[in-house]
Amino acid sequence: MPAHARVYSKDEELGKRDDDFKPRRSPTASSLAKPWRWRKRRLLAVVALVVLGYVFLLNLPEGLGSVESRIASSVNPLSSVGKPAASHVEPTGPPAKPKTASDEEESKHYYDGPIKFYRLATSLHAITRTSGIRPRNRNVLFAVSSLQHAANLIPMACEMAKWDRNYVHMAFLGRDSLSVDDILEVNGVSAKDCTVYFHDGRSDYSEYSTEKRAEVAVSGAMKHINDFMHPQAIIMDDSVLEDAFFVRAMRYKAAEMRRALIEIPAGRYEDFLWITRLDSGSLSNWFKPTIDILIHAPPHSSGGLIRLIRSLEDAEYAGFAAPKLTVELPPDVEHFAQDYLERLQWPRNTQHDPWKLSTLTLRHRIPSAHLSSEQASVRFVESFYPSNSGDNHVLVLSAQAEVSPLYLHYLHYVVLEYKYSSYSSMEADRLLGVSLDIPTAFLNGSGEFMPPSTHDMRDNTSQKYLEEAATDRTDATPFLYQAPSATASLIFGDKWSTLHNFLSNRLASSHRGVAERTKKLVSETEPAWLEYLLELTRARGWSMLYPATPFVTVHNELSQIPEEYLRERDEVRGAEEPKDAEHLAEEPFLLAAESPVIEEHVERETPEAQPLQYMLPYEGDLPELPHLPYLAYTGEVVNAIVQEDLMVKYAPLFRSRIGGCQGTDATRKRLISDSRRTDDFFCLPGVDIEFDTSTEADEVQVANEVIAKTAGPKSGAEGFRGGTSKAVVERVRKGAEGAPVAEKPAEAGDG
Ligand SMILES: *[C@@H]1O[C@H](CO)[C@@H](O)[C@H](O)[C@H]1NC(C)=O
Ligand SMILES: *[C@@H]1O[C@H](CO)[C@@H](O)[C@H](O)[C@H]1NC(C)=O
Repeated sequence: MPAHARVYSKDEELGKRDDDFKPRRSPTASSLAKPWRWRKRRLLAVVALVVLGYVFLLNLPEGLGSVESRIASSVNPLSSVGKPAASHVEPTGPPAKPKTASDEEESKHYYDGPIKFYRLATSLHAITRTSGIRPRNRNVLFAVSSLQHAANLIPMACEMAKWDRNYVHMAFLGRDSLSVDDILEVNGVSAKDCTVYFHDGRSDYSEYSTEKRAEVAVSGAMKHINDFMHPQAIIMDDSVLEDAFFVRAMRYKAAEMRRALIEIPAGRYEDFLWITRLDSGSLSNWFKPTIDILIHAPPHSSGGLIRLIRSLEDAEYAGFAAPKLTVELPPDVEHFAQDYLERLQWPRNTQHDPWKLSTLTLRHRIPSAHLSSEQASVRFVESFYPSNSGDNHVLVLSAQAEVSPLYLHYLHYVVLEYKYSSYSSMEADRLLGVSLDIPTAFLNGSGEFMPPSTHDMRDNTSQKYLEEAATDRTDATPFLYQAPSATASLIFGDKWSTLHNFLSNRLASSHRGVAERTKKLVSETEPAWLEYLLELTRARGWSMLYPATPFVTVHNELSQIPEEYLRERDEVRGAEEPKDAEHLAEEPFLLAAESPVIEEHVERETPEAQPLQYMLPYEGDLPELPHLPYLAYTGEVVNAIVQEDLMVKYAPLFRSRIGGCQGTDATRKRLISDSRRTDDFFCLPGVDIEFDTSTEADEVQVANEVIAKTAGPKSGAEGFRGGTSKAVVERVRKGAEGAPVAEKPAEAGDG
């Protein structure tokens, strides 16, 4: 049983709250009393209209099938023309053949008469009772055109129904003549072990339909299906395999209805089984997240770079948009690497399609001089900025890495589940990113990092996972770690743009000389920007999600110290050498006197590439973020209370030591007006300081958490995000010297 299913009990499910949407009851006698005359006239008119309509429906000149099928077919332009059906029983046998039919194909598909759906109404009416017709609900629709495609998708649909996060529907559209019962029997499906709602959306005479009629019939059926269930996402077989008329109609209708139309690539049905563990919210956002890959290639790393790009090329992209690829090249690139990059086609299949542009970007560095750690950080962080901070994420890869073929499957799965699900949590908002790697040393580069196990789950939840998923206490589990990694990490767009803003403020603070030079916490074998990201991560209480099994192999050969931390005698080339003492004095952080030593990264074996449901623990189900073990940046497993404490204590410390704040400016809680800005950690001249003086601040936070956990759709929880509107806000404008120049509001003087 899935962990999720139980948490979100049926009572909370969106689909069943139909009662809210029932038409209003007729007014009571007392409320009618006063405006009675006016209402009476209107009531009479309505009654008359209803009676007329009913009489009309019952007494149409020629019987047009059942009332339901009449309503069902009334939207279709074709249904109002041509020969009507003689009764409400579906006709059998081939329709009359036109004389013009000639060649083989046409002789089979010749019928172009009106379209009627005799079999759709019953099953559609049944769902209004179970799942409702609200625009936001838990309905997911599988659509197939024939027996073959049904066979491909039925296992997936049944599996999704088993996980019980969605109401799963499957509609048979197209020309196939086999009855639904027969199709299910052929596929060995019984109602008992597959709780999918099946719908027969095929029209009369479907197997004789012309191409045009078949297409219109699919559109018409989709219209009715949408009216009744508002599917959040539609899943179909590979468009290369599916009938052309079906694909055309589905694409047209999905675009019109603004629904995600997910195609499962041919032959990859098992690889994609993980989508059965996603809820309708995640599935409806299938196309939203986009990933840009950013690789920084240090000098003399061409071998590693080529190995990495080869592994990226060999990975699975079917069913996804291939990520954009940006490579930052050093001043001198070895010629074999240059040749390789010139021949590189990215994404791989672009050479066959002249309309598809290559999304490979090379950035070549000009100065050959040594960069300072600050320059190196800025250079790197500037090389990406999200076009849409909510959906455009960046995957940072080190040239030492080699990705597993299913890395993109994993990233999409995790991102869709944690960032786009109907249920959001505060922990998801605090997720900095997703690492593909598991560290083998602590952040400072020493020691042996031991990843936590299921036993370390927070809040006594480990028992639950141990019982439910046939897991052992010591089995690996994904975990949250306060330490960012530069090896192979997806960083969310909003966090990356926050990092941009943080760096601006942080460097301004350093340059003004108010920032203390603190001891560097991240090993000098890691790029310099990581230290800044760690500060921001600690101050905001973010964490990074690490997997239970790695999706990259990190190679040790060719690994090198980032140039910003090279000491004079490490220089291999005769470039302009910095004087060591001068170089160290300029550093924003206190560096070790000795140059760093590269520790071997344990080459953890990436498991053999197999579908995610076999690779991930807990049968491929992703545990809820608040249950996962949480590690402070020191590598210690901490509980939720300590976790919160770490952030609450670090923020004032940061403000006073680095942000240039003094006294209560540093200690008092600040208002965060825009989550992508970091002004609340600094006291910079000319920037407003906004204190969060509400005593309810904490209550609002708790309320947010509770609401986010229980309310369901993200939109529902968002109303409370701005919970600080109740707060009394105190604004202080600092002058150039850091002295207050604006008056404090009288009522907020508790500092
Ligand atoms: C965890 O379980 C122990 C004993 O079973 C209990 O004392 C403790 O309060 C529980 N903690 C939480 C967070 O539920
Ligand atoms: C590195 O970090 C670990 C864990 O935080 C700590 O135990 C160890 O003492 C640190 N090593 C050095 C050399 O600072």
